[in-house]
Amino acid sequence: MRVLVTGGAGFIGSQVVAALLARGHEPVVLDALLPSAHPEPPPPRPGERRIVADVRDRAAVDAALDGVQAVCHQAAMVGLGKDFADAPDYVGCNDLGTAVLLAAMAAAGVRQLVLAGSMVVYGEGSYTCTRHGAVRPGPRAEAELAAGRFEPRCPRCGAELRPGLVGEDAPTDPRNVYAATKLAQEHLAASWARATGGRAVSLRYHNVYGPGMPRDTPYAGVASFFRSALARGQSPTVYEDGGQRRDFVHVRDVAAANAVALWALPDRAPGTLTAYNTGSGVPHTVGEMAQTLAAACGGPPPVVTGEYRLGDVRHITASSRRIAADLGWRAATGFTEGMAEFAREGMRAAPSARPAATTSSVCPTNPMS
Ligand SMILES: NC(=O)c1ccc[n+]([C@@H]2O[C@H](COP(=O)([O-])OP(=O)(O)OC[C@H]3O[C@@H](n4cnc5c(N)ncnc54)[C@H](O)[C@@H]3O)[C@@H](O)[C@H]2O)c1
Ligand SMILES: [Zn+2]
Repeated sequence: MRVLVTGGAGFIGSQVVAALLARGHEPVVLDALLPSAHPEPPPPRPGERRIVADVRDRAAVDAALDGVQAVCHQAAMVGLGKDFADAPDYVGCNDLGTAVLLAAMAAAGVRQLVLAGSMVVYGEGSYTCTRHGAVRPGPRAEAELAAGRFEPRCPRCGAELRPGLVGEDAPTDPRNVYAATKLAQEHLAASWARATGGRAVSLRYHNVYGPGMPRDTPYAGVASFFRSALARGQSPTVYEDGGQRRDFVHVRDVAAANAVALWALPDRAPGTLTAYNTGSGVPHTVGEMAQTLAAACGGPPPVVTGEYRLGDVRHITASSRRIAADLGWRAATGFTEGMAEFAREGMRAAPSARPAATTSSVCPTNPMS
């Protein structure tokens, strides 16, 4: 099967390419090699056909779709960005890019899509108040965060809440530009499926970590920041009180989920998009993660700073039961084992050898404008 993998030179996309090659399939990569994601562009894997182009470049996408049966759409600008000035770049790469891709797929008769979704579409996770049951706290006020009160409160009585696991049918509530663009990608893909009779799956990844994770860029994940600090012999600095709950899922497991979803597409109902939470199923706190990495590196213990970022959510852990039931996928890599491997990889490489990316080049200008 020939599969177009957009963003296939990226952290997750390159593991998807490896998973496809290992299963005897033919990945075609289309990637703009954004400087922010690639201080040094990675060489293509043996057997990988790579087209260096922007997903908004319709002619390049048309050419890349030649002979393709399915698309695995990973290309996106990721992370929180620097400030709101990045919004047009996020919307351009993630939403205009998705629209151009889907229009090209519609024209080429390609009817199968796996989309890299994200759990950021949910905003704050699921919470229960002992008096009021399931509640949905709004964004945390800056004054609360500045006072070190990090736990969201019941919007009705102000009591502390118990965090739970979010299911795919929970209402969406994107809290920043990136999250809004990830949700819009799903809406666009659902519209494409309805209009063309296409079959689509959105894999809402949790916090993905593992080999090749970008580091020292403004868009890198928190595990990567911690690991870079440890590689410099410094303590990882943990924001808030370290009690933020996340689901850390290994990149190889996420790649396998993409492969499983691609093969399951022909059996899905035409005209539909189904979203699947794609996590390890076992929540951990950010503080725990910092400690596990520090222990694996033999480095200094983490320092909890009480700093915060507006737009961060406190706890976000979703249930990955639906993907297990429907597609038979489960994460195979345990937290301690996966983090230890990740730490070792970081200690082997010299962190100072790679220049830090700047935010001025986060996204190339729209080639169509
Ligand atoms: N890393 C995570 O924890 C995480 C979590 C949830 C969802 N996701 C999603 O997974 C996907 C892959 O993310 P990643 O972590 O591998 O990031 P990454 O930055 O390593 O990879 C993204 C790739 O897309 C390419 N790209 C970006 N905009 C493009 C454009 N307009 N045209 C062509 N190529 C473009 C980049 O050059 C890069 O190679 C993204 O869609 C992201 O939103 C990632
Ligand atoms: Zn209450």
